[in-house]
Amino acid sequence: MAFPSAWLDELFAKNEIVSVISSYVDLKPKGRKLWACCPLHGEKTPSFSVSPDKQLFYCFGCHAGGTVVQFVMDMERLTYPEAIRYLADRVGMEMPENVNDQALKLARQHKNRLYEATRAAARYYFECFTDPELGKPGREYAQKRGLTPEIVKRFGLGYAPESWDGLFNRLTKDGFTKKELLDAGLLVHNEQKNSVYDAYRGRMIYPIIGVNGQVLGFGARVLNNDKPKYINTGDTPIYNKRNNLYGLYLHKNEKLSDLIMVEGYMDVIGLYKAGVTNAVASLGTALTQQQARLLKRYVDTVYIAYDGDAAGQNATVRGLDILSAEGLQVRVISFPDDLDPDEYVQIYGKTGFDRLKENALSLNEFKVRSLANGFRLNDENDRERYAVRACAFVGTLQPIEQERYYKVISELTGYAVEALEAQGARSGGMVLSEQPVSLRRGGFRRRNDSPEQPRFIQERTLLAACITDPEALKVAIDAGAGTLFLTEAFRTFFEALIQDPKLSIPQYVSAIPSEDAEAISSLLKEEGVMKNAVRTAKDCIRRLQEADGQASLEELQKRLAEPGLSASEKAELLQKIQTQIKAKK
Ligand code: UTP
Ligand code: MN
Repeated sequence: MAFPSAWLDELFAKNEIVSVISSYVDLKPKGRKLWACCPLHGEKTPSFSVSPDKQLFYCFGCHAGGTVVQFVMDMERLTYPEAIRYLADRVGMEMPENVNDQALKLARQHKNRLYEATRAAARYYFECFTDPELGKPGREYAQKRGLTPEIVKRFGLGYAPESWDGLFNRLTKDGFTKKELLDAGLLVHNEQKNSVYDAYRGRMIYPIIGVNGQVLGFGARVLNNDKPKYINTGDTPIYNKRNNLYGLYLHKNEKLSDLIMVEGYMDVIGLYKAGVTNAVASLGTALTQQQARLLKRYVDTVYIAYDGDAAGQNATVRGLDILSAEGLQVRVISFPDDLDPDEYVQIYGKTGFDRLKENALSLNEFKVRSLANGFRLNDENDRERYAVRACAFVGTLQPIEQERYYKVISELTGYAVEALEAQGARSGGMVLSEQPVSLRRGGFRRRNDSPEQPRFIQERTLLAACITDPEALKVAIDAGAGTLFLTEAFRTFFEALIQDPKLSIPQYVSAIPSEDAEAISSLLKEEGVMKNAVRTAKDCIRRLQEADGQASLEELQKRLAEPGLSASEKAELLQKIQTQIKAKK
């Protein structure tokens, strides 16, 4: 962390969250929390809550959440360091620049070494690609995919040969340390053998390049149909997939009228080759707020052009609100027949793509149309249910816009426009809560994921119990509950709690990516409603274990009774049985 912990403690103490937020909205106490209409998204009934105990905020409507720092970042559109400075100014604290100079300098030096390492790696992969012997499989693949020498050069593509230590040998010879290569994600550590090996082998290499031209990480694709198709650099000190867009650096010094958001490496490259040079990719992950802000620095209009399959369409629905919440104009290009952009331009070329772009749907038209997903429009009942829902949505729009969308609904259902208008007016602009499952998540919301699935709730409840009662935390630690958290933000937080049960939650939460901060802040949902945290923790652990298909107690006992077990197998079984018995107590 860039700021000294004691200094941050003082900053949080002086910027008490309720006092800061109160200068934006009127907070009303109810239960252990204070409530208001969310200042971050428009609403009429209060779903924005602030916990003075936890010093966190969370909006149950748009799922924004975090500490006072995240609040200021969201509200004032500031970066993390800017928000810290803003809060320091607010209470007249000096910035701790001098205090921490040395640590910052070291961290910066380390990062620079990692940038050098990834650049050297990219060069190595390119050399392998061109090497007459080593590079043959890569070149054959490139040819098959139409990756011409110009494209290879433009995107810095390469090939990682089938070798466990080719990169390791080359880069250590160039003076990089094992630690630097591990930190940059270029090597993988094998715990059992306590050895390292090259992270990418026998794969085509797609360097991920930052807006300032540094190589941040890599995507590596198999040459056949093996799984996983791509391996990507995970989070490193210089790369976080949430903060980057593949291909954006190509436009650093260009004036663009719009950008096209696609899903993958090959979509950016395929479009580029066809002459559509302004595509960028979110690399298969849900769009983040940070990416939306990045886009906003370049353009006002973004076209979402995700794959035509169901996964792509769902991702589109989620991405829309993120982008429009940042003030971007959003339009949606849909591809026929489950095609992805790369496949589409191979068949229909740039002309075909430009035609689709001209006919791109507005955000609201896309919503009106996608509300029909899950309904069979040739069925009378479904048609009616869809119409009711779609009219309720259109009723919330500006009167000027409404006419256009009633026409769309009319076209899809056959009902007369007048009838639909009357229906929309009757629902009084209320969006019905009962929607097809596919749209319930994120359809009209600002944020991408509202992961209110049973699993998420169980994990969240367990974690809430852990921060409510130290005894519950102990139970969870004893049960090895770390592996039960599939939500990464929860698992990491739990691990931090194990390290330091007295962890400063505001400090911790303020320093993590905003999506994770939101997940952690959603813990406020459980605040004040938990009666017996230890019992709750045990319950959750048991359910999560069952959900993970962990063997039941009886099963384990049966196995223990089997003849011919080795001592270590016995010990392992006993350990598992003990854990379960403890969790049941
Ligand atoms: P796609 O499966 O659509 O891949 O995944 P693609 O980019 O079209 O590649 P080709 O044409 O099949 O070679 C879209 C993106 O999702 C991420 C990658 O960023 C990919 O470009 N992804 C996909 C992974 O990270 N890992 C995977 O195993 C698959
Ligand atoms: Mn694809």
